Amino acid sequence: MTEHTQIGIIGAGPAGLLLSQVLHLQGIDSIVVERRSPEYVLGRVRAGALEPGMVKFLRAAGIGERLDREGHPHKGIAIAFEDKRFRIDMEELTGGGYLTIYGQTKITEDLMTARAERGGNLVYEIGDTSIHDLDADRPSIRYSKDDEEHEIRCDFIAGCDGFHGISRPTIPGDVLKTFDRKYPYHWIALLTESRPVSEELIYVHHERGFVLCSMRSPTQSRYGIQCGTEDTVDDWSEDRIWSEISARLSPDLADSLDTGACLDKSIVPKRSFVAEPMQYQRLFLAGDAAHIVPPTGAKGLNLAGSDVYYLSRAFIEYYGTGRTDLLGAYGATALDRVWKAEWFSGWMTELLHANPNHGPYDRRAQIAQLRLLSQSRAAQTALAQSYVGVPY
Ligand code: FAD
Ligand code: DHB
Repeated sequence: MTEHTQIGIIGAGPAGLLLSQVLHLQGIDSIVVERRSPEYVLGRVRAGALEPGMVKFLRAAGIGERLDREGHPHKGIAIAFEDKRFRIDMEELTGGGYLTIYGQTKITEDLMTARAERGGNLVYEIGDTSIHDLDADRPSIRYSKDDEEHEIRCDFIAGCDGFHGISRPTIPGDVLKTFDRKYPYHWIALLTESRPVSEELIYVHHERGFVLCSMRSPTQSRYGIQCGTEDTVDDWSEDRIWSEISARLSPDLADSLDTGACLDKSIVPKRSFVAEPMQYQRLFLAGDAAHIVPPTGAKGLNLAGSDVYYLSRAFIEYYGTGRTDLLGAYGATALDRVWKAEWFSGWMTELLHANPNHGPYDRRAQIAQLRLLSQSRAAQTALAQSYVGVPY
């Protein structure tokens, strides 16, 4: 069966869903195809700290209501090292910028509801996705579902299918350049039924390894614990998790640590990756399909948001005026922001983690950098500006 639309979107993660929602509001038609079931997509816990630009964009996309009701504003973060803690006052240092804690699962759910209410065409649990005729006027996406072959003919294809999707590998090897860096540690990421250890996010540097203390609500916490690259979730029992978090926190925080059931536990590899170009013929990549950041600094989901902002703007210009200026500029515009976030995430990661390959010199230099950051308003301002995100 062949269907026709304006934009064929591969992947119903935050990038794909948000793109189809924003385009719909401007009268542009799309079909979204997704390999997994809606339940599976909703079950992925992942990110939760939103930049102000992302919050504004989500409101403009018509899904701000629950976000404004249930999101928690975070006006500062704490960084802990050598049993000391200092606060970076994001709001003051950036002239009003701050993060909002609101889980990726909720954004996905809000977008799914919004698309369903407006008759969005979303096809879940498909297989054998492939892209064809990118150099023709009407490229196509082919897939199988329930033992039938399907085709979507469209004007453009948006590859929003994450890091392991098929869109990026469709770009020929002699065109695609990739930039990759792996770190010698991973995170075990947890969602727990427990009171957060603090009202604000804490990034903990410790010689045993880094810990992120974040939250989802007054009764649910989110932790990221530095672990080895060979570790599996089975290596991390609840007992080990709580005793390791406790050992890495300063005594005042460890004493007030609320331990509870683990609702979700996953290994998050630490990797920086960028693919260029983000456009090839009639294919446009957005989100994790084009780039990955290590999660320290909370940029992954926010970058998916800014890519979709630039891409939707380009499609809106094209269908409104026939002009292709913004479509042509999409890759360069998005990559400028991506690379700034790549640099920041890599820098935060290296500043805060215990690198098993480091010798005494590097360890001393890392502590010196943390001390400098704790004492320098200029250094804190630079961190705060990147943390709240480059304006769209
Ligand atoms: P995705 O969310 O990956 O969505 C892509 C979608 O495409 C998926 O639903 C996938 O099933 C679908 N798909 C793939 N292949 C195909 C195909 N062939 N055909 C059809 N559909 C396909 N970021 C942070 O900022 N903070 C965090 O704490 C954080 N934690 C994370 C933890 C984990 C385990 C992971 C994997 C990521 C984490 N991230 C985090 C990153 C953040 O979640 C991503 O940046 C964000 O999900 C990107 O959205 P996306 O829509 O581009 O990609
Ligand atoms: C969260 C994740 C991050 O990687 C981070 O730096 C801050 C917050 C979170 O999911 O809450």
